[in-house]
Amino acid sequence: METLKGMERTYNCGELRKTDEEKIVQLAGWVSRRRDHGGLIFVDMRDRSGIVQIVFDAAEIGAEFSKAETLRNEFVIGVRGKVRARSADTVNPKMETGEIEVVVNELRILNKAKTPPFYIQDGVDVDENVRLRYRYLDLRRPEMQQNIMLRHRVTKIMRDYLDENGFLEIETPMLCKSTPEGARDFLVPSRLNPGQFYALPQSPQIFKQLLMVSGFEKYFQIVRCFRDEDLRADRQPEFTQLDIETSFLNQETILTLMEGLVKKIFETTLNVEVKTPFLRMSWDEAMERFGSDKPDLRFGMELKDISEFVKGSDFKVFNSVLENGGQVKVINVEGYADIPRRELDDLVEYCKIYGAKGMAWIQYTAEGVKSPFKKFYSDETFEQIKNAVGAKTGDLLLVVGDKSSVVAQTLGELRLEMARRRNLIDANKLCFLWVVDFPMFEYVEEDKRYKAMHHPFTAPREEDIEFLLTAPEKVKANAYDIVLNGVEVGGGSLRIYQSDLQEKVFEAIGLTHEEAHQKFGFLMDAFEYGTPPHGGIAFGLDRLVMLMAQRKSIRDVIAFPKTQSAIDPMSHAPSEVDDKQLRELYIKTTVKKAN
Ligand code: AMO
Repeated sequence: METLKGMERTYNCGELRKTDEEKIVQLAGWVSRRRDHGGLIFVDMRDRSGIVQIVFDAAEIGAEFSKAETLRNEFVIGVRGKVRARSADTVNPKMETGEIEVVVNELRILNKAKTPPFYIQDGVDVDENVRLRYRYLDLRRPEMQQNIMLRHRVTKIMRDYLDENGFLEIETPMLCKSTPEGARDFLVPSRLNPGQFYALPQSPQIFKQLLMVSGFEKYFQIVRCFRDEDLRADRQPEFTQLDIETSFLNQETILTLMEGLVKKIFETTLNVEVKTPFLRMSWDEAMERFGSDKPDLRFGMELKDISEFVKGSDFKVFNSVLENGGQVKVINVEGYADIPRRELDDLVEYCKIYGAKGMAWIQYTAEGVKSPFKKFYSDETFEQIKNAVGAKTGDLLLVVGDKSSVVAQTLGELRLEMARRRNLIDANKLCFLWVVDFPMFEYVEEDKRYKAMHHPFTAPREEDIEFLLTAPEKVKANAYDIVLNGVEVGGGSLRIYQSDLQEKVFEAIGLTHEEAHQKFGFLMDAFEYGTPPHGGIAFGLDRLVMLMAQRKSIRDVIAFPKTQSAIDPMSHAPSEVDDKQLRELYIKTTVKKAN
């Protein structure tokens, strides 16, 4: 096998340009593609920086030519050659290096390669499981390299910006006490403390608050978090947060600092303009207008309430909804009155996924109104609805009547689905938004108790504290989410910093004094020793980079992610372990081993 000795690389493949003409260059990289033209062999040679065409000319390099004939995709090679301008008819405008090629006079084959299971190029149509099984090859594809490099640049800017603004990067433990509140914990058995378990952190929330008690004032960490929850395209069991905490700052100052960070990240890496301040919208307004606490503002199609027009008729469905305190709302799918009946039936089924009992519609066609509830209302009522929601002839209203949470959820999802089907979403638009004034609690029907909507360390709005125990549903929190194009990319809050208020919030979510102390006693104790007012936020790094790279899944911006069923098809984690390991940990499993 040959080495690069004496022929170490002097240039990267992707950086060569017309201005380099006549230069003697030494390159190292992979064979991306080989094309034979009799006495000429063209090879696309790839390294991290990009691809350049190299040429072997039998007439010029003699013996080296037969070596070039043995090259296969993904062989690792080193070459020396001269940069030459391509003739006008062979210039490739799609390649950054497309104006030149390198005429090789020496070739070293540094390593051979088996035929890869898929082509190492952008946009390959391969099952994701195969990509993950051979992740090291998948990551060799240029678009994946771009994603990972973008991620690096984003974290570098985060560190620089926060350092410039007086933040300190401080690490917090990975082996923590289990205090499940949000998702399930990943547990780690302690060999030295038989029968006891650590939990991997769902977030460094308590530690960063303790760092504020310690007086660090401005903390950040780019940190792995672990949550054992059901996975989706934008969720992984281990993911990365940019975690931030500050002391003595009010909410507005925190939001402004974060806007500065986001602006810098986008403007530096993507070269797009980001206007600040971002829009702020209360949670109530977001739910009312978009049926979502993370509205995608790249298009309209807002939810409109038509309850006042449809009440008091003979139509039992709407009547019973309204009598039970529900609402009837619509979205206007502009210009789609001629929707096929089959698609309408489909949409009814779609709505049922989100808990609605059904869905109705009004088609404002040139021949008049078509609607399953037409006979219950006068033409005038349909005209009033049309005016109230700003519809035109040719428009389609999709109608859902139910309790307000179901209406919001169903129409919120339907709005997104119709925007996708009607192609209303501009992929190049960036719509940032702060959703503020979240409810402090949500009621969990299953457990018959309230649960903190953000987390139980979030401060309630001062004017609502009096309702904490009497009317928790009324209490709003000093919590905020940052939303980009309908994805929650970060969330945070001002925190409680007095132990008596913290105890009250624990009580409101049904934790007894003893339970609260058993779980969070150390935090309550710390609060007794001079805790500053503090607050912070955490960004989901993977989600942010996913949106920046315009990918549909966070798996595309994580080097070694897990599948939707939380496994790694490459290393085969998780796996069974041998009995000796289990014995050392005092663990017995009740699962029968697969043969
Ligand atoms: P939160 O739970 O909202 O807040 O998480 C912050 C952000 O992390 C991202 N995120 C995820 N990304 C990928 N996979 C997951 N499973 C996942 N779960 C969350 C989201 C989310 O907005 N300690 C608080 C922050 C604070 O109050 O300062 C926290 O963790 O983008």
